[in-house]
This record gives sequence, structure tokens and C-alpha cells, in this order.
Amino acid sequence: MKGATTNICYNLLDRNVNEKKLGDKIAFYWEGNEPGDSAKITYSELLHKVCQFANVLRSQGVKKGDRISIYMPMILELVVAMLACARIGALHSIVFAGFSADSLCERILDCGCSLLITADAFYRGDKLIILKQIADEALQKCKDKGCPLKKCIVVKHLAREEVAVDGTCSKSPPLKRLCQDVQIPWNPAMDVWWHELMSSASSECEPEWCDSEDELFILYTSGSTGKPKGVLHTVGGYMLFAATSFKYVFDYQPEDVYWCTADIGWITGHSYLTYGPLANGATSVLFEGVPTYPDIGRMWSIVDKYKVTKFYTAPTAIRLLMKQGEEPVRKHSRKSLKVLGSVGEPINPEAWLWYYRVVGEERCPIVDTFWQTETGGHMLTPLPAATPMKPGSATFPFFGVVPAILNESGEELEGEAEGYLVFKQPWPGIMRTLYGNHQQFETTYFKKFPGYYVTGDGCRRDKDGYYWITGRIDDMLNVSGHLLSTAEVESALLEHAAISEAAVVSHPHPLKGECLYCFVTLRDGHEFTKKLTDELKKQVREKIGPIATPDYIQCAPGLPKTRSGKITRRILRKIAKNDQDLGDISTLANPGIIKHLFNSRCDTKQ
Ligand code: PRX
Repeated sequence: MKGATTNICYNLLDRNVNEKKLGDKIAFYWEGNEPGDSAKITYSELLHKVCQFANVLRSQGVKKGDRISIYMPMILELVVAMLACARIGALHSIVFAGFSADSLCERILDCGCSLLITADAFYRGDKLIILKQIADEALQKCKDKGCPLKKCIVVKHLAREEVAVDGTCSKSPPLKRLCQDVQIPWNPAMDVWWHELMSSASSECEPEWCDSEDELFILYTSGSTGKPKGVLHTVGGYMLFAATSFKYVFDYQPEDVYWCTADIGWITGHSYLTYGPLANGATSVLFEGVPTYPDIGRMWSIVDKYKVTKFYTAPTAIRLLMKQGEEPVRKHSRKSLKVLGSVGEPINPEAWLWYYRVVGEERCPIVDTFWQTETGGHMLTPLPAATPMKPGSATFPFFGVVPAILNESGEELEGEAEGYLVFKQPWPGIMRTLYGNHQQFETTYFKKFPGYYVTGDGCRRDKDGYYWITGRIDDMLNVSGHLLSTAEVESALLEHAAISEAAVVSHPHPLKGECLYCFVTLRDGHEFTKKLTDELKKQVREKIGPIATPDYIQCAPGLPKTRSGKITRRILRKIAKNDQDLGDISTLANPGIIKHLFNSRCDTKQ
């Protein structure tokens, strides 16, 4: 209705507590990295905390439309922070805690965040990450670039009181390690502890009433130019789409215990760990750790501990667990499981079948959900037990989604076909713009084929009308379900003094799906050594984050180029794979280089 107002946080919390009487229902079981470290929060407790933190934000001068950067591990305060932003109409921009200081700084600057929320430190498996130190580095870089961000709110997570009181630990031996003395850098002019602000904050907080088209959040995703794109979602459409797709795709039932293993720093964690489940009054598991710590059976022990009914993870995790055999899975009961989901990258039939036979014991339907940061929610997906499945196919469109397959000239292909996957009409959760760059939004998604939304993915439709995603057909690649742009990695490599030119291509990888194969040309006077490749890897890790670490770096005295000077990545991909079937190379300016590059390939991971 025109002129009507809403608030997404109100719909997720107040409505569930007050109208649906779900106040005492668990919203989240939090499972820490260390087994035995856990917590839970009900809907009314979550509402209480969100209201308090929303008041904290208001007391810091945050207003509707302001951008707030969130850089946190998978802890309950992350959900509280994001919903508090939504309650007062501020836009959260969550940056995955595995990103580097450079990446965080770039994202803070791009949307002009006025405040950062972070945490002291956390463990991922047995690796300690002093997040505050990385955040400080990012803030220093931001300051050098004239950014006005003035406040940093810090959650005391690793050193939290329940774990370590006065430096002593009252918990059982496995938690002892949490009590070790970690030095957290502190800048009194800027930093303030979360718990200190919360201790005096009221839990009464009137939501900011919003138009359905008001901005809700920004989430950065890789862009083919190398600069991340700030995907912007709005309140009404996103809420409807996340809530509805969650309900139907997971066949949500009130007694479910749902577990999405994605990090909240990615869109899956926004739509299907936070907004979608909470809108339905669901109980979810929020897991801080990794599937392999302290052992390879951790996922299934969590499934049994909380009696998880619906489980949503990524093919890369499935392949990793599959490699360890069936025994660690079979050791756990898993009899609570009813539906299994997959997201983030194409799932190969072998991994699909293992998931179906071993994890789900052939009784749980698999929902292979294809979608994107930009789409807000599921686009192609089976409905559990209703859609006959085919291993590796995301099957059919979700309600209201109209896909088409186009050829290079933009003609719609009928029946069995392969080509560009596009969508023919808008759906509620479609992104509304790229923050601060509507022009780029139009060019990226709507210019190549006017009248269609272009996904950037290739797709095949079989004779039964099933859709099969064949992977990206632009300069993006998908490493373990994380989208990266080759340009982004190339520019990180080029910042090294020894490198004059770099070209990065995607290369198949048995666990990660795809990995990075880099060709680098050295400046005169530099030698290609193990030390240099180590430095280059470190450089990429520091510029982007550990997910972007190259698997292969090959020295290339020259790169194959067209006569107009464009690097032909198509040929480099074949060289990386040792595929001699190069097709037409007559347009190359320097075909002589190809033989040399084949002879100096990297065969093994460096
Ligand atoms: O290439 C597709 C792949 O992941 C891309 C979107 O990445 P991102 O925006 O980071 O969102 C990931 C989580 C939704 C897509 O363009 N992708 C995602 N899900 C699938 C997939 N490829 C094949 N099958 C899927 N189920």
C-alpha cells in the first residue's frame, strides 16, 4: 500500500514475541569454536538486546540512512548489531572477518561508514585471529585517506567475563586456551567496549518506520573490474523474499532446528541465517568454528547435539568431508535430519550423491539452491520432496522467478539449450542498485542483453526442462563458494615491485571447486624464486584475504595477446590445464610464447 510503513527488525522480533507469542522460543543456539563453549538466546532476549544496542547506536549519533561497518566473528553480538541497525534504519555493511585490513578499509571508504563494530579476537579451529588488530590497521589506512569514521565499538569476545574472570578460568580444561593473555590494541580516542555501552542502555526502543523501498543493507561482492561492488538491498522486497523462500525451500515447520553453516559475512548468512529464519520464528544454530575442528566429525556432532532437522552448507565443505570417508559421519546418529541444502557453487554429482547417500541416508531431499548476492534469495531450487531431483541440477525456478537462456546474440533459446542464464522479470528480492554507482549497476546487469537481468553464469537446460549451472562466464571465479574477480587478484600481484604484468585464470580444484592459477611477468633484474612466489602469495593474502591465496604461480616472460594488446585468458586457462587443443590462435600477436608457457607449467601445487 502506498504510504504504508514497516520495519524489518519489528517483523523479525517484536511481532514474533508479542503477536505470535514466541518470546520463550530459542532464536539461536550458539555453538563456539571450542566444543563445550555454547550459549542460547530466546526471541525476547534477542529483542531486548537489539533494542539496547539500537539505543547505543542512537546515542552515538547514528541516524536513518547512515552506514555502519560490521567486522565480526560468528557470535550472537553480530546478529544483535545487524538487527539494531535495521531497527533504526541505518544500513549495515558486514565485512567477512576473513577479509584483510585493505579489504575492510576499501569497503568502509566506499560507502562512507561512520562507525565500525568489531570484536577483540577469536579462534577459527586452532588459529587465533586478533581481529581488533586487523580492524585497527584498516582504520589507520582509512584515516590516511581522510575518512571521517570516528568510533569503533568492540565486543569482548575472546576475553569475555564468563570465560575469564580476573584472568582465571572457571571453565573445564578444553576452554582453558580461551583464557590466555592476548594483547588487544586499544585507542582510547576512538574505541569503546560494547558491554560498557550496553550496561546502561534502555531496552525500550521505538523502531524507525520505513518505506518498503528504504535501504536495508549493503553487501560487497567481487566485481569484474577488480573493485568490489556494494550490492544494495531494500526493506520490503528483501524481507518478503527471504522469508518466503526460507519457508518453502526448507519446508519450514515450527519444531525445526535449522542450521546454515555459512558465515554472516556472506549473503547466505544474511538471508538464510538471519533474516529468513527469524522472519519465520525459527530456531537456528549459529556456529563459530570450522567443520574440521577439533575433528572431522564436528558437523555431525553438532547436528546430534541440537537435533538439527534442516541443514544448509556448501559443496566445498561436502567435498572436504567426503575425502575423509564415511566413518566420521556414520559414527553420529543424524536421525533428526530431514532436508539437506547446498549453496554457493555448482555441486558435482559425486559430492551430491555422497551428501544424499551418506549424510542423508537416502531419506533427506537435497535442495541445490542457485542464487547470488544480487538476487537476495533463491532463484533456482527444488522444493523438498515435491521436485524430483537430479544430482547436480538446481532444477526449476522459485515462485515468481522467470529464467531464460540466451545465445551470444541475445536470442532466447527454447527447449534443450546452453547459453547465458538471465532472468526475464524482476522479483521482490532483486538488488536495487550498487551503492553510489547506479550507472555501474545498469551496465553490469542490464546492458549486455537489454530487458534482462544477466547473472554472469552459464547454464544448460535439459530435455526435461531442468536447469544446470555450468559456472561463471565472466572474469569471476568461485573458490570454495567465494566469488573472486581475476582483476582483483591481478592488481594485488602487480603491487609487488618485481612484477610488470600479471594474468590470473581459474583452474579446476578437487576440493575448492576452482582455484587461482597466476601468470606473472618479471621486471628486469628480478629472479623467479621460491622466495618471490611466497612473497606474492603473502601480498595477495594481505591485500584481499586468505581465501584469495593463489595455488599456482608461473613465470611468464610474455603473455599471449591479441594484436590490440588484450591478454587472451582463454589460452592461459588451457595452458594451466595442459590442454593443447587451443582452437584458433591466428589473432595472436605473439603465438611463439605459447610453446614456452606450456613447457614451463606448474604441475604441482606450490
Ligand atoms: O556462479 C554462481 C555461484 O555463485 C555465484 C554467486 O555468488 P555470491 O554472490 O557470492 O553468492 C553465493 C551464495 C548465494 C553465482 O553467480 N552459485 C551459487 N549457488 C550456486 C552457484 N552455482 C551453481 N549452483 C548453485 N547452487
